[in-house]
Amino acid sequence: MPLRNTAEAYGSLAKFLHWAIVLLIVPQYFIAEAAEELPKGLERLQLMDWHKSFGMLVLLLTLARIGWKIMNRGLPGPIGNPWQRKAAAAGHGLLYLLVLAQPISGWAMSSAANYPVTLFGWLQFPALVAENHDLHETLEEVHEVLFYSLVTVAIVHILAALYHHFLLKDSVLRRMSPFSRP
Ligand code: HEM
Ligand code: HEM
Repeated sequence: MPLRNTAEAYGSLAKFLHWAIVLLIVPQYFIAEAAEELPKGLERLQLMDWHKSFGMLVLLLTLARIGWKIMNRGLPGPIGNPWQRKAAAAGHGLLYLLVLAQPISGWAMSSAANYPVTLFGWLQFPALVAENHDLHETLEEVHEVLFYSLVTVAIVHILAALYHHFLLKDSVLRRMSPFSRP
């Protein structure tokens, strides 16, 4: 499987980044919910640290993904009519925006509460904003609303992929699949 995209399929790096980011995002909800159920203390802080570190990893991988997308212009050929192509481009753009905004809002939320943000304790990120109680409360809401927006758009995205695969029977799903080549 070539590293770069070809006219028929996404390359191995684009596929790896797509699926690594999906696999890292899914447990984020469960880690945050599990942490929120614990009483304030070390265990809760440790679980939140995992949530924050995996979230920052998603941010770094998404930036790498966008960088690679810019460098790797040879996208798989367009499929569908102009209306469908516009909808797909808008949906993908929205997914990129949400996947960036989600960890950035979390990072700013932690900064506003004066909590450190690290990558598994290996490196510490600078505070994005100064300590601010009201801003922290607002960002908590923003972080939650962003997540529900991401889930909504991702569900439409998954249904679109399944529609292409099972009803239109074209190569849209296969060309992003880690298991098959078109
Ligand atoms: C892909 C990235 C991320 C996803 C999908 C995500 C998702 C979530 C979800 C679903 C919650 C629970 C919201 C609720 O029901 O109250 C949550 C809570 C939280 N997240 Fe994230 N998050 C991400 C990244 C981050 C990052 C990078 C940070 C900080 C550096 C962070 C900090 C927090 C904090 C502090 C809470 C607890 C808020 C509270 O006490 O209500 N998150 N996150
Ligand atoms: C959190 C979940 C997900 C996010 C954020 C996400 C995000 C994205 C983005 C941004 C693209 C555009 C890639 C590009 O730059 O061209 C894309 C493509 C794609 N995704 Fe996802 N995705 C998610 C989950 C899934 C799942 C579960 C499936 C499978 C059912 C899937 C199937 C695809 C396919 C088939 C493409 C390629 C579409 C094409 O060839 O035009 N995605 N995804």
